[in-house]
Amino acid sequence: MSEKIGIAVVGTGDWGANLVRNFANLAGARLVALCDADPQRLARSAAQYPTARAYPDAAQVAGDPEVQAVVVSASAIGHHPIAKLMLEAGKDVYVEKPLTLEVAHAEELVRLAKTGNRILMVGHLLLYHPGVQYMKKMVKDGSLGDLLYIYCQRVNLGKVRKDENALWSFAPHDLSVILHLLDMEPLDVVARGSAFLQKGVEDVVFVDLRFPGGKLAHVHVSWLDPHKLRKFTVVGTQKMVVFDDMEASEKIKVYDKGVDRAGEIVSYGDALTVRNGDILIPKLSLQEPLKLECAHFVECVRDRKRPLTDGLDGLRVVKVLDAAQRSLKNGGAPVAIQPLPVEVA
Ligand SMILES: NC(=O)c1ccc[n+]([C@@H]2O[C@H](COP(=O)([O-])OP(=O)(O)OC[C@H]3O[C@@H](n4cnc5c(N)ncnc54)[C@H](O)[C@@H]3O)[C@@H](O)[C@H]2O)c1
Repeated sequence: MSEKIGIAVVGTGDWGANLVRNFANLAGARLVALCDADPQRLARSAAQYPTARAYPDAAQVAGDPEVQAVVVSASAIGHHPIAKLMLEAGKDVYVEKPLTLEVAHAEELVRLAKTGNRILMVGHLLLYHPGVQYMKKMVKDGSLGDLLYIYCQRVNLGKVRKDENALWSFAPHDLSVILHLLDMEPLDVVARGSAFLQKGVEDVVFVDLRFPGGKLAHVHVSWLDPHKLRKFTVVGTQKMVVFDDMEASEKIKVYDKGVDRAGEIVSYGDALTVRNGDILIPKLSLQEPLKLECAHFVECVRDRKRPLTDGLDGLRVVKVLDAAQRSLKNGGAPVAIQPLPVEVA
């Protein structure tokens, strides 16, 4: 067997095509197989990558001894059965977001990967984005101060899905960043949304998360909106930072703004002074986050390393999505987040 990691991609649709392109061009990987249940899609991908074997059925990928690692980019409803099949066949697995559509399914995948000593990674793409990594560095080195709250918008007039609503389709990105920056689990979640285009499939959802210490996060997702926004605002006690992924180059702006407290409080007005300082626009690496993510997966498979976005990370996000979904169904009632089961934590 070649030293390059043998990769198969299951689901070669709109997004899968990007994954195929990246894995086909990675120095440490070899695109061994492509799989799609749709014959036209499979024929199109096979024509582009004639050296890869083309399979209409995921079971054929599971049975291919040259396939070491499988990338699952089928529609979300297929993530759990396909990933389970591959883990049970002894393959390392990368699953697009959301990891699964049910908490129990995500727990099962984490358990299977753990007992089988397999790599399980989830496609939380933004955690590989140099802009998000810059914000994480600011949180870690203390330059942001104490992180107080985060809000974000991921809206546009875009691909309307039928298997999953805008919450499950878009919010995994925002939630993965929020959990990564705050490095804690929310206490509870409140969500409101509406299904305007298809019965029972929410097009717009507003989610509020409450964290220990009074920290807050708010997520607004929609595929029915005139704007195209992919933006995070992170407010700390020392600085505030905005990550705008729609900006071509100035994606991060750090604001030296805040409200400082005087040493000795005499009166309310004397105690608080507004600091309205400079704005810093740092130079970021312009590498494609998806390329960095794919390279990370190959490196984890090769070196048997735990991925930055491992199965547990995927499970944490699915738990929040599930709580938000239950809140949605209950007219915005708060839903508490339960701790992870001991055997998977
Ligand atoms: N990380 C990101 O930024 C990002 C962006 C877009 C989509 N995604 C995710 O990627 C996945 C795919 O999204 P998409 O937009 O490409 O969808 P899509 O509908 O265009 O493609 C899905 C493909 O999977 C195939 N498929 C479905 N079930 C299958 C099965 N059991 N076996 C083999 N093939 C199967 C379909 O035939 C289709 O070609 C979704 O999970 C989505 O959430 C991630």
